[in-house]
Amino acid sequence: MTEMQRFIEGLPKTELHMHIEGSLEPELMFELAKRNDIKLPYASVEEVRKAYQFTELQDFLDIYYQGMGVLQTVQDFYDLTMAYMTKIHAQKVQHTEIFFDPQGHTERGVSFETAIDGITRALKDAETEYGITSKLIMCFLRHLDELSAERTLDTALSFKTRIAGVGLDSSELGHPPSKFQNVFARAKSEGFLLVAHAGEEGPPEYVKEALDLLHVDRLDHGNRSLEDDGLTARLIKEQMALTVCPLSNYKLAGVTDMTKHPLKKMLDLGLKATINSDDPAYFGGYMTENYLAVADALDLTKEEIATLARNGIEASFCDEDEKIVLMAKLNSYLQMNGVA
Ligand code: ADE
Ligand code: ZN
Repeated sequence: MTEMQRFIEGLPKTELHMHIEGSLEPELMFELAKRNDIKLPYASVEEVRKAYQFTELQDFLDIYYQGMGVLQTVQDFYDLTMAYMTKIHAQKVQHTEIFFDPQGHTERGVSFETAIDGITRALKDAETEYGITSKLIMCFLRHLDELSAERTLDTALSFKTRIAGVGLDSSELGHPPSKFQNVFARAKSEGFLLVAHAGEEGPPEYVKEALDLLHVDRLDHGNRSLEDDGLTARLIKEQMALTVCPLSNYKLAGVTDMTKHPLKKMLDLGLKATINSDDPAYFGGYMTENYLAVADALDLTKEEIATLARNGIEASFCDEDEKIVLMAKLNSYLQMNGVA
Protein backbone atom coordinates (compact mmCIF):
# COMPACT_ATOMS: atom_id res chain seq x y z
CA MET A 1 0.00 0.00 0.00
CA THR A 2 1.37 3.43 -0.89
CA GLU A 3 1.53 6.27 1.62
CA MET A 4 -1.19 8.10 -0.35
CA GLN A 5 -3.48 5.04 -0.17
CA ARG A 6 -3.00 4.83 3.59
CA PHE A 7 -3.67 8.59 3.93
CA ILE A 8 -6.87 8.43 1.86
CA GLU A 9 -8.19 5.32 3.57
CA GLY A 10 -7.92 6.93 7.00
CA LEU A 11 -9.17 10.35 5.90
CA PRO A 12 -12.43 11.43 7.60
CA LYS A 13 -14.81 11.98 4.68
CA THR A 14 -18.10 13.68 3.87
CA GLU A 15 -20.32 12.47 1.02
CA LEU A 16 -22.80 14.88 -0.61
CA HIS A 17 -23.93 13.10 -3.78
CA MET A 18 -25.04 9.48 -3.59
CA HIS A 19 -28.28 7.97 -4.90
CA ILE A 20 -29.27 5.29 -2.40
CA GLU A 21 -30.83 3.20 -5.18
CA GLY A 22 -27.42 3.37 -6.88
CA SER A 23 -25.81 1.59 -3.93
CA LEU A 24 -27.73 -1.62 -4.70
CA GLU A 25 -24.99 -4.22 -5.11
CA PRO A 26 -25.76 -7.19 -7.41
CA GLU A 27 -25.57 -9.62 -4.45
CA LEU A 28 -28.31 -7.73 -2.59
CA MET A 29 -30.29 -7.35 -5.84
CA PHE A 30 -30.40 -11.15 -6.10
CA GLU A 31 -31.28 -11.56 -2.43
CA LEU A 32 -34.18 -9.10 -2.67
CA ALA A 33 -35.39 -10.60 -5.96
CA LYS A 34 -35.58 -13.97 -4.21
CA ARG A 35 -37.24 -12.48 -1.13
CA ASN A 36 -39.91 -10.80 -3.28
CA ASP A 37 -40.26 -13.52 -5.88
CA ILE A 38 -39.12 -11.28 -8.73
CA LYS A 39 -37.50 -12.71 -11.86
CA LEU A 40 -34.32 -10.85 -12.85
CA PRO A 41 -33.16 -10.71 -16.47
CA TYR A 42 -29.73 -11.97 -15.32
CA ALA A 43 -28.62 -15.50 -14.41
CA SER A 44 -25.88 -14.52 -11.96
CA VAL A 45 -24.13 -11.72 -10.09
CA GLU A 46 -21.31 -11.94 -12.64
CA GLU A 47 -23.78 -11.44 -15.47
CA VAL A 48 -25.18 -8.33 -13.76
CA ARG A 49 -21.70 -6.87 -13.37
CA LYS A 50 -20.97 -7.57 -17.03
CA ALA A 51 -24.07 -5.59 -18.01
CA TYR A 52 -22.63 -2.49 -16.28
CA GLN A 53 -20.98 -1.10 -19.39
CA PHE A 54 -22.33 2.27 -20.33
CA THR A 55 -21.61 4.67 -23.14
CA GLU A 56 -23.82 7.47 -21.81
CA LEU A 57 -26.07 8.43 -18.90
CA GLN A 58 -29.23 6.90 -20.41
CA ASP A 59 -27.60 3.45 -20.73
CA PHE A 60 -26.96 3.51 -17.02
CA LEU A 61 -30.37 4.92 -16.10
CA ASP A 62 -32.20 2.12 -17.95
CA ILE A 63 -30.37 -0.49 -15.86
CA TYR A 64 -30.65 1.57 -12.66
CA TYR A 65 -34.46 1.86 -12.89
CA GLN A 66 -34.73 -1.83 -13.68
CA GLY A 67 -32.50 -2.71 -10.71
CA MET A 68 -34.54 -0.74 -8.19
CA GLY A 69 -37.57 -2.89 -9.07
CA VAL A 70 -36.48 -5.42 -6.42
CA LEU A 71 -37.12 -2.83 -3.67
CA GLN A 72 -40.62 -3.56 -2.41
CA THR A 73 -40.89 -3.39 1.37
CA VAL A 74 -39.72 -1.19 4.22
CA GLN A 75 -37.24 -3.95 5.12
CA ASP A 76 -35.78 -3.89 1.58
CA PHE A 77 -35.13 -0.14 1.77
CA TYR A 78 -33.73 -0.62 5.27
CA ASP A 79 -31.33 -3.36 4.13
CA LEU A 80 -30.23 -1.31 1.12
CA THR A 81 -29.50 1.76 3.23
CA MET A 82 -27.84 -0.16 6.06
CA ALA A 83 -25.54 -1.93 3.58
CA TYR A 84 -24.41 1.47 2.28
CA MET A 85 -23.92 2.91 5.77
CA THR A 86 -21.90 -0.15 6.85
CA LYS A 87 -19.73 0.18 3.77
CA ILE A 88 -19.01 3.88 4.28
CA HIS A 89 -18.40 3.38 7.99
CA ALA A 90 -15.44 1.18 6.99
CA GLN A 91 -14.32 4.02 4.69
CA LYS A 92 -14.29 6.64 7.47
CA VAL A 93 -17.23 8.66 6.14
CA GLN A 94 -18.46 10.87 8.99
CA HIS A 95 -21.45 12.50 7.33
CA THR A 96 -23.49 11.67 4.24
CA GLU A 97 -26.27 13.44 2.33
CA ILE A 98 -28.10 10.89 0.28
CA PHE A 99 -30.62 11.13 -2.55
CA PHE A 100 -33.63 8.99 -3.13
CA ASP A 101 -35.94 8.89 -6.14
CA PRO A 102 -39.53 8.61 -4.80
CA GLN A 103 -41.05 8.63 -8.28
CA GLY A 104 -38.88 5.62 -9.18
CA HIS A 105 -40.92 3.77 -6.57
CA THR A 106 -44.38 5.34 -6.69
CA GLU A 107 -44.48 4.86 -10.49
CA ARG A 108 -44.29 1.09 -9.92
CA GLY A 109 -46.73 0.95 -7.03
CA VAL A 110 -44.40 1.19 -4.01
CA SER A 111 -45.43 4.02 -1.72
CA PHE A 112 -43.42 7.09 -0.76
CA GLU A 113 -43.92 6.05 2.86
CA THR A 114 -42.46 2.56 2.35
CA ALA A 115 -39.31 4.00 0.79
CA ILE A 116 -38.76 6.81 3.28
CA ASP A 117 -39.54 4.65 6.31
CA GLY A 118 -36.96 2.03 5.40
CA ILE A 119 -34.32 4.60 4.47
CA THR A 120 -34.73 6.83 7.51
CA ARG A 121 -34.89 3.93 10.00
CA ALA A 122 -31.54 2.71 8.70
CA LEU A 123 -30.05 6.23 8.81
CA LYS A 124 -31.12 6.53 12.44
CA ASP A 125 -29.72 3.11 13.38
CA ALA A 126 -26.46 3.88 11.57
CA GLU A 127 -26.07 7.11 13.52
CA THR A 128 -26.50 5.16 16.78
CA GLU A 129 -24.24 2.28 15.74
CA TYR A 130 -21.57 4.07 13.75
CA GLY A 131 -21.92 7.73 14.69
CA ILE A 132 -22.45 8.70 11.04
CA THR A 133 -24.72 11.73 10.65
CA SER A 134 -26.87 12.10 7.56
CA LYS A 135 -29.42 14.10 5.63
CA LEU A 136 -31.94 12.95 3.07
CA ILE A 137 -32.57 14.73 -0.24
CA MET A 138 -35.56 13.82 -2.40
CA CYS A 139 -34.95 14.08 -6.15
CA PHE A 140 -37.52 14.76 -8.85
CA LEU A 141 -37.10 12.69 -12.01
CA ARG A 142 -36.58 15.23 -14.78
CA HIS A 143 -37.77 12.92 -17.60
CA LEU A 144 -41.24 13.12 -16.01
CA ASP A 145 -43.33 16.29 -16.14
CA GLU A 146 -43.50 19.08 -13.60
CA LEU A 147 -46.98 18.04 -12.51
CA SER A 148 -45.63 14.68 -11.34
CA ALA A 149 -42.93 16.53 -9.39
CA GLU A 150 -45.63 18.79 -7.86
CA ARG A 151 -47.62 15.73 -6.71
CA THR A 152 -44.43 14.23 -5.25
CA LEU A 153 -43.78 17.45 -3.35
CA ASP A 154 -47.37 17.38 -2.04
CA THR A 155 -46.73 13.88 -0.63
CA ALA A 156 -43.34 14.90 0.76
CA LEU A 157 -44.90 17.63 2.88
CA SER A 158 -46.22 14.93 5.25
CA PHE A 159 -42.63 13.74 5.79
CA LYS A 160 -41.05 17.18 5.92
CA THR A 161 -39.10 16.68 9.14
CA ARG A 162 -37.20 13.79 7.55
CA ILE A 163 -36.25 15.54 4.28
CA ALA A 164 -33.59 18.25 4.19
CA GLY A 165 -33.74 19.16 0.55
CA VAL A 166 -34.96 18.50 -2.95
CA GLY A 167 -32.91 17.73 -6.05
CA LEU A 168 -33.27 17.02 -9.74
CA ASP A 169 -31.87 13.92 -11.46
CA SER A 170 -32.34 11.40 -14.30
CA SER A 171 -31.98 12.10 -18.05
CA GLU A 172 -30.48 15.57 -18.35
CA LEU A 173 -30.41 16.29 -22.09
CA GLY A 174 -33.75 17.66 -23.28
CA HIS A 175 -34.95 18.24 -19.71
CA PRO A 176 -33.51 21.62 -18.64
CA PRO A 177 -33.90 22.96 -15.11
CA SER A 178 -36.36 25.59 -16.43
CA LYS A 179 -38.94 22.78 -16.73
CA PHE A 180 -39.06 22.62 -12.90
CA GLN A 181 -39.03 26.30 -11.92
CA ASN A 182 -42.42 26.30 -10.26
CA VAL A 183 -41.97 23.20 -8.16
CA PHE A 184 -38.53 24.33 -7.01
CA ALA A 185 -39.94 27.74 -6.03
CA ARG A 186 -42.61 26.02 -3.95
CA ALA A 187 -40.07 23.63 -2.39
CA LYS A 188 -37.97 26.65 -1.40
CA SER A 189 -40.97 28.40 0.13
CA GLU A 190 -41.62 25.21 2.13
CA GLY A 191 -38.11 25.50 3.57
CA PHE A 192 -36.32 22.77 1.62
CA LEU A 193 -32.70 23.27 0.57
CA LEU A 194 -32.18 22.93 -3.17
CA VAL A 195 -29.76 21.04 -5.40
CA ALA A 196 -29.89 19.94 -9.04
CA HIS A 197 -27.83 17.79 -11.38
CA ALA A 198 -26.57 20.15 -14.07
CA GLY A 199 -23.69 20.08 -16.50
CA GLU A 200 -23.21 16.33 -16.18
CA GLU A 201 -24.16 15.76 -19.83
CA GLY A 202 -26.06 18.99 -20.34
CA PRO A 203 -24.53 22.28 -21.56
CA PRO A 204 -23.38 25.24 -19.42
CA GLU A 205 -26.78 26.89 -20.07
CA TYR A 206 -28.38 24.22 -17.88
CA VAL A 207 -26.00 25.13 -15.06
CA LYS A 208 -27.00 28.79 -15.45
CA GLU A 209 -30.66 27.82 -15.30
CA ALA A 210 -30.06 25.79 -12.13
CA LEU A 211 -28.50 28.91 -10.57
CA ASP A 212 -30.82 31.60 -11.91
CA LEU A 213 -34.16 29.82 -12.23
CA LEU A 214 -34.01 27.11 -9.56
CA HIS A 215 -31.78 29.04 -7.12
CA VAL A 216 -29.89 25.96 -6.03
CA ASP A 217 -27.75 25.92 -2.89
CA ARG A 218 -25.33 23.41 -4.41
CA LEU A 219 -24.69 21.99 -7.89
CA ASP A 220 -24.51 18.28 -8.62
CA HIS A 221 -21.68 17.53 -11.09
CA GLY A 222 -21.33 20.87 -12.91
CA ASN A 223 -18.42 19.56 -15.00
CA ARG A 224 -19.48 21.21 -18.25
CA SER A 225 -19.45 24.64 -16.56
CA LEU A 226 -15.75 24.73 -17.48
CA GLU A 227 -16.73 25.23 -21.14
CA ASP A 228 -17.95 28.73 -20.25
CA ASP A 229 -15.34 31.09 -18.77
CA GLY A 230 -17.91 33.58 -17.51
CA LEU A 231 -19.87 30.87 -15.73
CA THR A 232 -16.68 29.39 -14.27
CA ALA A 233 -15.66 32.83 -12.93
CA ARG A 234 -19.09 33.21 -11.36
CA LEU A 235 -18.95 29.79 -9.67
CA ILE A 236 -15.53 30.67 -8.25
CA LYS A 237 -16.69 34.10 -7.06
CA GLU A 238 -19.83 32.71 -5.42
CA GLN A 239 -17.90 29.68 -4.10
CA MET A 240 -20.76 27.52 -5.35
CA ALA A 241 -20.04 23.92 -4.36
CA LEU A 242 -19.85 21.25 -7.07
CA THR A 243 -20.44 17.64 -6.10
CA VAL A 244 -18.02 15.97 -8.48
CA CYS A 245 -18.24 12.19 -9.06
CA PRO A 246 -15.02 10.96 -10.68
CA LEU A 247 -15.75 7.25 -11.24
CA SER A 248 -19.23 8.11 -12.45
CA ASN A 249 -17.80 10.55 -15.01
CA TYR A 250 -15.40 7.87 -16.17
CA LYS A 251 -18.04 5.12 -16.40
CA LEU A 252 -20.56 7.32 -18.22
CA ALA A 253 -17.90 8.40 -20.71
CA GLY A 254 -18.00 12.10 -19.94
CA VAL A 255 -14.32 11.57 -19.18
CA THR A 256 -12.57 9.02 -21.39
CA ASP A 257 -9.40 8.77 -19.34
CA MET A 258 -9.05 9.55 -15.61
CA THR A 259 -5.88 11.54 -16.31
CA LYS A 260 -8.13 13.96 -18.24
CA HIS A 261 -10.62 14.39 -15.42
CA PRO A 262 -11.31 18.14 -14.88
CA LEU A 263 -10.98 17.91 -11.07
CA LYS A 264 -7.37 19.10 -10.97
CA LYS A 265 -8.27 22.09 -13.13
CA MET A 266 -11.25 22.82 -10.87
CA LEU A 267 -8.97 22.87 -7.82
CA ASP A 268 -6.33 25.01 -9.58
CA LEU A 269 -9.03 27.53 -10.54
CA GLY A 270 -10.34 27.73 -6.97
CA LEU A 271 -13.70 26.09 -7.62
CA LYS A 272 -15.28 24.51 -4.55
CA ALA A 273 -15.14 20.89 -5.72
CA THR A 274 -16.01 17.89 -3.57
CA ILE A 275 -15.58 14.13 -4.11
CA ASN A 276 -18.60 11.82 -4.21
CA SER A 277 -19.56 8.35 -5.41
CA ASP A 278 -22.93 8.98 -7.21
CA ASP A 279 -23.99 5.35 -7.77
CA PRO A 280 -21.24 3.32 -6.13
CA ALA A 281 -22.61 -0.16 -6.93
CA TYR A 282 -22.75 0.70 -10.65
CA PHE A 283 -19.60 2.78 -11.09
CA GLY A 284 -17.02 0.65 -9.33
CA GLY A 285 -16.44 2.36 -6.03
CA TYR A 286 -17.46 4.20 -2.90
CA MET A 287 -15.77 7.27 -1.44
CA THR A 288 -12.31 5.80 -0.90
CA GLU A 289 -12.13 4.43 -4.44
CA ASN A 290 -13.19 7.80 -5.86
CA TYR A 291 -10.51 9.66 -3.90
CA LEU A 292 -7.89 7.07 -4.87
CA ALA A 293 -8.81 7.25 -8.56
CA VAL A 294 -8.26 11.01 -8.81
CA ALA A 295 -5.27 11.10 -6.46
CA ASP A 296 -3.52 8.56 -8.64
CA ALA A 297 -4.53 9.74 -12.12
CA LEU A 298 -4.12 13.46 -11.41
CA ASP A 299 -1.14 13.07 -9.09
CA LEU A 300 -2.83 15.09 -6.34
CA THR A 301 -0.92 16.16 -3.23
CA LYS A 302 -2.05 15.50 0.34
CA GLU A 303 -2.86 19.21 0.57
CA GLU A 304 -5.18 18.94 -2.42
CA ILE A 305 -6.85 15.88 -0.89
CA ALA A 306 -7.26 17.86 2.34
CA THR A 307 -8.90 20.72 0.41
CA LEU A 308 -11.40 18.29 -1.11
CA ALA A 309 -12.24 16.88 2.32
CA ARG A 310 -12.64 20.38 3.83
CA ASN A 311 -14.82 21.43 0.89
CA GLY A 312 -17.08 18.45 1.61
CA ILE A 313 -17.70 19.69 5.14
CA GLU A 314 -18.14 23.35 4.16
CA ALA A 315 -20.54 22.49 1.33
CA SER A 316 -22.64 20.17 3.47
CA PHE A 317 -26.08 21.10 4.78
CA CYS A 318 -24.91 20.68 8.39
CA ASP A 319 -25.38 23.60 10.74
CA GLU A 320 -22.33 25.52 11.92
CA ASP A 321 -21.95 23.54 15.18
CA GLU A 322 -22.00 20.25 13.30
CA LYS A 323 -19.45 21.58 10.80
CA ILE A 324 -17.12 22.55 13.65
CA VAL A 325 -17.21 18.98 15.00
CA LEU A 326 -16.55 17.47 11.55
CA MET A 327 -13.77 19.97 10.83
CA ALA A 328 -12.07 19.34 14.19
CA LYS A 329 -11.94 15.61 13.48
CA LEU A 330 -10.56 16.22 10.00
CA ASN A 331 -7.98 18.75 11.20
CA SER A 332 -6.73 16.42 13.90
CA TYR A 333 -6.22 13.68 11.28
CA LEU A 334 -4.46 16.12 8.96
CA GLN A 335 -2.19 17.30 11.76
CA MET A 336 -1.32 13.72 12.70
CA ASN A 337 -0.37 13.22 9.07
CA GLY A 338 1.72 16.35 8.77
CA VAL A 339 -0.70 18.23 6.52
CA ALA A 340 -1.17 21.85 7.49
N1 ADE B 1 -29.77 9.12 -11.07
C1 ADE B 1 -28.90 8.30 -10.47
N2 ADE B 1 -27.65 8.61 -10.83
C2 ADE B 1 -27.73 9.66 -11.68
C3 ADE B 1 -26.78 10.44 -12.39
N3 ADE B 1 -25.47 10.24 -12.31
N4 ADE B 1 -27.26 11.43 -13.18
C4 ADE B 1 -28.56 11.66 -13.28
N5 ADE B 1 -29.48 10.95 -12.64
C5 ADE B 1 -29.07 9.97 -11.84
ZN1 ZN C 1 -26.10 11.79 -9.35
